[in-house]
This record gives sequence, C-alpha cells and structure tokens, in this order.
Amino acid sequence: MQTLINKKILLGVTGGIAAYKSAELVRLLIKAGAEVRVVMTPAAREFVQPLTYQALSGHRVYVDLFDAEADSAMDHIELARWCDLMLVAPASADFLGKMSAGYADNLLLTLCLASRQLVAVAPAMNQQMYANAATAANLEQLSSRGILVWGPDAGEQACGDVGPGRMLEPAHLLTNLEICFKPGKLHGIGILLTAGPTREAIDPVRYISNRSSGKMGYALARAALHEGAEVTLVSGPVSLAPPAGVKMISVESAAEMLDAVMQEVPGSDVFIACAAVSDYRVDQQADHKIKKSTQTMTLDLVPNTDILAAVSALAERPFCVGFAAETRDLEKYALDKLKRKNLDMIAANLVGDGSGGFEADVNRLEVFWDGGEHSIALADKREVAKQLIELIGERYTDALSGNPSKA
Ligand code: CTP
Repeated sequence: MQTLINKKILLGVTGGIAAYKSAELVRLLIKAGAEVRVVMTPAAREFVQPLTYQALSGHRVYVDLFDAEADSAMDHIELARWCDLMLVAPASADFLGKMSAGYADNLLLTLCLASRQLVAVAPAMNQQMYANAATAANLEQLSSRGILVWGPDAGEQACGDVGPGRMLEPAHLLTNLEICFKPGKLHGIGILLTAGPTREAIDPVRYISNRSSGKMGYALARAALHEGAEVTLVSGPVSLAPPAGVKMISVESAAEMLDAVMQEVPGSDVFIACAAVSDYRVDQQADHKIKKSTQTMTLDLVPNTDILAAVSALAERPFCVGFAAETRDLEKYALDKLKRKNLDMIAANLVGDGSGGFEADVNRLEVFWDGGEHSIALADKREVAKQLIELIGERYTDALSGNPSKA
C-alpha cells in the first residue's frame, strides 16, 4: 500500500515500557513515506530519550507545553493543525483517563484537545489496569467521541503478567494507519443526515419531544466520514459531541430542521433521515409561561411537514433513505413508508420490545428497497451504522449505474 506517502503523522508517546516499540513505528512510518513529528509526555522521557525519536524522524521532538525555544511557526496549536492524523502510542491508563476528562496539563494532552483531525490511541498497560472499570469507561468515552482505539493486544507483559494490555505491534499499527488513509468507498459523496429528536415549543419553558438520543444518526455520520463522504449533520437537541469533520447544523423544531435540510439538499447526493421528527407542533405557542389552573387543558396540534417526503418529492432529489421505528408489523409498515414517501431505501427497527432502538446503545435493522432486503443483526449502534452505510453505498452506486433492484 502506498497510502502513507506524504501523510503527516503526529505520534504521541506516553510513559510506558512500550515506548521503545514506538521508535520502530517511527522507522516504519518514515520508510512508508510519511512525515512524522513526535511529542512525548514528561513520563515518556523516563523510558526513552527524545534523541532516539529525533534521529529516526529527522525532526526535533516536542515535550514541553511552555517551550521558550519553540519556533513560532510550530507552536503547539500549529502542530495539531499540521498533522493529518494523531496517534498516541503507547497510550497509558493515566493518559487515557486525562484525555477522556479533557485535561490539558501537558503538551500532548493539549494537542489532543486542540486537534480537529482524526485521533487514534493504542492503549498499553498492565492487564489488571486494563481490566479496571475506570479504564473501560475512559476508553468507551473516547470511542464515543470518535477517537479510534487500536488494541490492546493480549499476551505476556513486561511485568510478567499475562493478559490483554500490551500495545499492538508497530507493524499492526502501521497497517491500521494505512487503512485510515485508503480512499473510502464514499469518497467525495455528499451525505446529508438528520438526527435526534425535535422540540416543539408549548410556551417559553415547555415543549413536546421524544426519546430519540441521536446515537444512531451520529454513528451513521461517523461511519460515512470514515468512508470518505462529505457529511452534513442536521441535529435536534442531543447530548452527544459532534463528530470531528462534519458540517454541523443544530436545530430545535421540525420547522427549523426542514429549513436547514432544504438549504443543504442541493449539494447532497444522499439524504438519510434518521431524526425522530415530531409529527405535530402546537398550533398557538404561548408567548408567556402558561399558568396552571384546576381546569383540564387542551393543546391544539397541527401537522408538521414530513421532511423526508418533501425531499424525495423534489425534481432534483438525492438518493433518499428513511427510518421506520415501529412497535409491530415492521415489514408491512416499512414497505408502506418506502412507497408512500417515494424512498430508495428504508431501515426499520422494532422499538419498545427491549431489543434496541430509542435511547439504547444497540440496534438491529431490517432494510428494504424496491426488489430487495437485508437484515443487520443486533449489535452496537456503531457497528450497525458501519454496515448500513456500506449497504447505502452499494445501493447508491447500483442506482447510479441503473441497476436499481439488485438484492
Ligand atoms: N420524517 C421526517 N419528517 C417528519 C416525520 C418523519 O423526515 N415530519 C422521517 C423520519 O426521519 C424517518 C421517516 O420519516 O426517516 C419515518 O418517520 P415516521 O414518523 O415513522 O413516519 P410516519 O409517516 O410519520 O408514520 P407513523 O404513522 O408511524 O408516525
């Protein structure tokens, strides 16, 4: 593979015995044609001298957050901007904990926080430390923010223990880096996504909404980015961090979501409507907080525009993918929506039966299109998203080449 030629890799080294292996990684990266800059934490210097990495990378090694000698052209924020990808290898348990909490008390942590590029970490620690719930929670948190977690490997450890916790071998990390730079299957394709719930105001302090967490839509945005797509995410209010690299548009109501989507449709090849859009809004929003009374209260609701149906009705329309969350008769309702909303694909899931969907971390999908269907088995939403994006990519390419019903 030639994918690393001229790629700018920022290698972060933290304090762990595996730091010596990262010297070999620098050598392999240089051999593969990459440009490498190394940043060490103060603890890493206890294991390997900066001179080792300097000799191998051909550049000075950065250690201090406040470096009087730093050339102004390459201060710490510049380094974060300079790279195409940042890899922290080895990433110690302590470093991962601080990174997950957003600390910035050394140069490498500061760069992780300042980076808008892809960041990967290769954990390396004692197997008991790796097995600790705190480490697992930190890795889960990082991974949910789109940081790639590579490894660890299992086997004999420097301390004599045996188990998972060893850093992946340099050759393995090199392969992972090469895969990251392989042009994705959706390279250059514009994907517009809606995600999360909408909020329909009743008065200035109250609203009608639903249980959508946005996890599926955000996972789809990440999976599409990973395949090289240009992703625009129109999101209702959720408590998720926007994936680095997406064009993010935050909205509240269905009407705002419709406006944002219509603005973005012209540059989009694929539209994925993953949002749980409120079907109704309150007809007359009160200007002031409604006061309670002993009387029963009635709210008049009027229908919102169906965003997905509006997009699929456009003369110049993108490839349209809808979602159907149903509590029964999944296939019947999904096929009905596929037809009624004039969609290219629909991804349907059962909700309310404990098998995933709203608020859950897992999901399972039945995907239908004209002349075909495909099941995606129950899995973490990130895995389900990866498989669905792959399927959408295939169906979109087939539709472009005039082969619409290939199952
Ligand atoms: N959708 C949309 N705009 C709306 C409502 C729904 O874009 N105002 C999209 C959703 O994002 C989803 C699909 O339409 O992709 C299905 O939504 P759903 O609410 O289940 O469909 P409905 O036709 O409203 O059917 P139901 O009777 O089940 O509510």
